[in-house]
Amino acid sequence: MNALKNPLPGKGKSGPATARKSSRLRGTIAAARDKSCSHRALILAALAAGTSRIEDLLESADVLATAGALKELGARVERTGEGVWEVHGAPWQSPEVPLDLGNSGTGVRLLMGAAARFDLTARFIGDESLSSRPMARVLDPLRAMGAEAKSGEDGRLPVTLKGTSVLKAIDYRLPVASAQVKSAILLAGLGAAGDTLVREPHATRDHTEKMLPLFGAMVSTGQEGAETVIRLPGAQALSPAGIAIPGDPSSAAFPVAAALLAPESEITVTGVMMNPARFGLYDVLKEMGALIELLPAGERCGEALCDISVRTSHLSGVTVAPERAPSMIDEYPVLAVVAAFADGVTRLQGLSELRAKESDRLAATAALLAANGVEVSIEGDDLIVTGCGPAGVPGGGEVKTRHDHRLAMSGLVMGLASKAPVEVDETAMIATSYPGFFDDIAAIGGEID
Ligand code: S3P
Repeated sequence: MNALKNPLPGKGKSGPATARKSSRLRGTIAAARDKSCSHRALILAALAAGTSRIEDLLESADVLATAGALKELGARVERTGEGVWEVHGAPWQSPEVPLDLGNSGTGVRLLMGAAARFDLTARFIGDESLSSRPMARVLDPLRAMGAEAKSGEDGRLPVTLKGTSVLKAIDYRLPVASAQVKSAILLAGLGAAGDTLVREPHATRDHTEKMLPLFGAMVSTGQEGAETVIRLPGAQALSPAGIAIPGDPSSAAFPVAAALLAPESEITVTGVMMNPARFGLYDVLKEMGALIELLPAGERCGEALCDISVRTSHLSGVTVAPERAPSMIDEYPVLAVVAAFADGVTRLQGLSELRAKESDRLAATAALLAANGVEVSIEGDDLIVTGCGPAGVPGGGEVKTRHDHRLAMSGLVMGLASKAPVEVDETAMIATSYPGFFDDIAAIGGEID
């Protein structure tokens, strides 16, 4: 029988929260586990014949939604200890109920890709935020490979996908820089006849390519001119693996930003994955003058890890070129908050993809800053923030979080350093990516109530 054994962790807090000016943030916290790697580890394990063991899985709402969907698709998914999961793969079957991926774009898009290679029909649904996000970017290539898909208005959820075991391989150039689209195609390609090629004009996170060989699959990455080309032979069976999930640089960004901004602070976040396709924020923070030290901390899942030590810093505005966006795509809201405290103007360029996230993050980030007395504008796809410098960020605003975890955490980080407290209207969705956020901020001495 399929089962999720052992009680699942709690959902965390819900309702509004207020962050107040804090100082002397101190301490060492372990980074929350990586969301991208957690989704992929579960999905690849559910495709492998045999039992895989995953340690330190991120037990967040998004990842648990993927685990639940895999169970409906026929895999045995068991929680055997804190963060420890055993997954027994099986050929996927039509689920009896719609697969509800909640808030998770990664979950829904990767699962659609992986399901496309089986003779099954599955209906995918999600919450209000996920139901407003574009799915055609994944469904178009899957249709080209031979799957059938019916979507809601404008290519949104609900999606009914009919997969096939006679999928064709494709050679596909990504029209948007999206690791989710790339991964969906590669996961489908595992069951296709022939080599699947994905061409990336701008390299995106490569966790799928890096994790596939751990499950015994062949995949290669090369460079053709400016393009990164990933080639995956078809008709591959996966073998089970033992995987330990590294720390999430996107979640670590929140305590790191808090310590940069709150006076007299010095904290360390341990075990953070340094994958270059995820680490852009930390390079930008250093360019702004951040006192950040990266100490090597071994390796996990083929990824180098570091401990990040950070101290309160005097920061200056910078320009971040559009090419850097894929390496820090989820970090722009918190980077904009940091820029609000800096001296001078920060220009964050080429942010069109932010409009397709859990909310329209470009508009929502600008609104977060404006509500707290920061001068901000959107020019085309660029966000321009005029830092408040020594005058300080006024704060005192109420942040509308629009079902977006990263906006909620960014608003609260702003409140830890602004003159007046910052309130966010909802916090429940923080558990989609960083269920330990409130505990970690409290552990380093940040005041949120
Ligand atoms: C993710 C890829 C990114 C990122 C998301 C996680 C992934 O989305 O924003 O939080 O795990 O592949 P896109 O690939 O759509 O940019």
